[in-house]
Amino acid sequence: MRIVVVGGAGDLGSRVVRDVTTRGHDAVSASRRTGVDIATGQGLKAALVDADAVVNCADDTSRGDTVTVYAARRLADTAADLGVHLAHISIVGIDDHPMTYYRRKLRAEQGIAAAGGPATILRATQFHSLAAFFARTLTLGPLTATIGDMALQPVDTDFVAQRLVDLALAPPPTGCTRATDVAGPDVLTIGELATLVRAHRGASAPHVVRIPPVGGLMRAVSESRTVPVAGTADLGGRTFEEWLAAQPPRLTGR
Ligand SMILES: NC(=O)c1ccc[n+]([C@@H]2O[C@H](COP(=O)([O-])OP(=O)(O)OC[C@H]3O[C@@H](n4cnc5c(N)ncnc54)[C@H](OP(=O)(O)O)[C@@H]3O)[C@@H](O)[C@H]2O)c1
Repeated sequence: MRIVVVGGAGDLGSRVVRDVTTRGHDAVSASRRTGVDIATGQGLKAALVDADAVVNCADDTSRGDTVTVYAARRLADTAADLGVHLAHISIVGIDDHPMTYYRRKLRAEQGIAAAGGPATILRATQFHSLAAFFARTLTLGPLTATIGDMALQPVDTDFVAQRLVDLALAPPPTGCTRATDVAGPDVLTIGELATLVRAHRGASAPHVVRIPPVGGLMRAVSESRTVPVAGTADLGGRTFEEWLAAQPPRLTGR
């Protein structure tokens, strides 16, 4: 099969490209660096015309609604016109979350459903690298701040990529459907994440300072709404600790 991966040079997209190829199918990486811009539509139809499926891993959080919401809709409309199955990545727990980015991701899902073509939406929890970034960001010296009871159930990006490829290679659904959510094996508090991240570079466990949640956003974070309800998600991939053990001592990026 010929699978177009929009955002195929990104963190998730590059793993999707690799997995498609490993399974013996043709992967076509499409993004601005290959002349495909889903925000303007440049090169999009030509990229999709011979595709069996398209996986959307493109995003640009610095551009507000432009890529996350509107370009996702443009991609969904183009795929629907051509009858190409769209597999789209989204985030667990965004139905009732006040965070601006999560609201955008929900609107993107709604736009994809409204486009009317065959589409499968996969929601994943935060990738291990992002969980480590949060833990580092909330740590200053020996102190880690946690908003209320904040916890995450981070997931191995390779596991998410494999599931997206499973979906792209499967028969297309009629209309838009949601796949079973995916998450990693463990729920970890920010204190536990920060302890593991500090131990990875040989530092002692942090002192965890609890900040009481004030306002809707902090309450949503404190209630860990992005952790899937027990029994509702497929769990798999490397644990956070296994992922961390494979990283260089000094973590960078997100
Ligand atoms: N990180 C997490 O914890 C997490 C968890 C769940 C879901 N997700 C979802 O996973 C997705 C991918 O995240 P990521 O971290 O892999 O992103 P990433 O590394 O930033 O990659 C995004 C890619 O999108 C491409 N892109 C940006 N604007 C574009 C445009 N206008 N047209 C075409 N391509 C464009 C970029 O390539 P060019 O510069 O070449 O255009 C880039 O390679 C996002 O939708 C995110 O919501 C992430």
